[in-house]
Amino acid sequence: MKGLILSGGRGTRLRPITYTSAKQLVPVANKPILFYGIEALAASGIREIGIVVGDTHQDTRDAVGDGPRWGVTVTYIQQEAPLGLAHAVLTAEPFLGEDPFCMYLGDNLILEPLAPLVERFRTDKPNSQILLARVPDPTQFGVAELSGDKVKRLVEKPKTPPSDLALVGVYMFDASILRAAKAITPSARGELEITDAIQWLIDSGHTVRPHVIEGWWKDTGKLEDMLEANRIILDRLEPRSEGTVTDSEIHGKVVIEPGARVVRSTVRGPAIIGRDAVIEHAYIGPFTSVGEAVSVRNSEVEHSILLEGTSIADVGGRIESSLIGKNASIYRTQGKPQSFTFMLGDGSEVGLI
Ligand code: DAU
Repeated sequence: MKGLILSGGRGTRLRPITYTSAKQLVPVANKPILFYGIEALAASGIREIGIVVGDTHQDTRDAVGDGPRWGVTVTYIQQEAPLGLAHAVLTAEPFLGEDPFCMYLGDNLILEPLAPLVERFRTDKPNSQILLARVPDPTQFGVAELSGDKVKRLVEKPKTPPSDLALVGVYMFDASILRAAKAITPSARGELEITDAIQWLIDSGHTVRPHVIEGWWKDTGKLEDMLEANRIILDRLEPRSEGTVTDSEIHGKVVIEPGARVVRSTVRGPAIIGRDAVIEHAYIGPFTSVGEAVSVRNSEVEHSILLEGTSIADVGGRIESSLIGKNASIYRTQGKPQSFTFMLGDGSEVGLI
C-alpha cells in the first residue's frame, strides 16, 4: 500500500505567512504540520509516499528530503495548479499505478492512530474507506449522510448540511478512485472534488466504508485552528530540558531544545523553546511554541507560535494568540517622536492596545 500526501494548494487563509511558505510547513509544537502526516503513514507500515506539490514545491522538498528520516521513500508529484483533490489524485496516477493507497491532506492533523484503520482496509479490501468526525459547523467541510453503516450521500461544503459528520482529510482507496476521478466534472468552485469522486463510487455500486473517529482532528487552514492544534500537541509533549536554564522558573510541561538559553525568565508550560533560542528577562506563557534561534528579551508571550529567527524585544504588553513568521522583528522604538514603526507584508494583521 502506498501513501499520498496532498501538499499543493494556495493557503489563502494563512496569508501573509503563506506568501512565502507552504501552509503545510507552518510548525505546530515546532514541527511542520506535514511531518505529522508523514509520521502517521510511516507508523502504519507504509514505505512509499508520494507528495503532491504546487508552487511551494522547493520549500517542501528542502524540508522533507527523500524520506530516510522516517524510513520511507518520498516521490514528489508536481501538480500544475490546485485544480482539486481528485485532480491531485489523477496527477499522481503514474506514482500510484494500480496500488491501493492512503491519501492524507497535508494540512490535516489527526490524533487517532491510522495503523488499525489501514490494517482493516488491507484485510477487508473495500474500494474506499473514509474517516468522519462530528463537528459543530459542517458547512466548511465535505459532509456525509449515512444510512445505518453505509454512506448514502456526500456533499462538499453544503449550505444546509444533511448531518454533522465531516469528511476528515484521510482517505483510503483502491485503483477504482482513478476511474471515478476521470468520470466526474469540476464543481461550482471549479475543482475536481474528491467528494464527488467518492459519490461516483457509491452510485456505481462500489463499497465505501465509513469510520467515525472519536479523537481530536483539525484542518489547520486558519490562525485559530493553528493555535488550537498547537495547544493540543504541546499538551502531549514529554517535558525535557537539553538547553541551559539560569536564574529562571520553569513550570509544567516544558521542552527546552539543545542550545536554547533561558535566563532570568519564567516559562509556564505547556511550551517548547526551540534549538538555539534565547529567552532573557522574559515570560513565556502556556501554549507557546518558540521556534529555532528565536529571541525573546524583556517581553511576554503567551498562546502563540513564533517561527524561526524571529526576535522580540522590550515589548510593553503581552503578545498573545499570535502567529509570527520567520525572521520577524518586534521591538520598542527609541527616541522622539515616539511612534509606531511598521514594515508589514500584504495581508498582515496588527492588534494594538
Ligand atoms: O480537511 C478536510 C476537508 O478537506 C474535507 O472535509 C473536504 O471534503 C475536502 O474537500 C477538503 O476541503 P478543503 O477545502 O479544506 O481542502 P483544501 O483546499 O484546503 O486542500 C486540502 C489539502 O490538499 C491542502 O494541503 C492543499 C492540498 N491540495 C488542495 C487542492 C485543491 C492540493 O495538493 N491540490 C489541490 O488541487
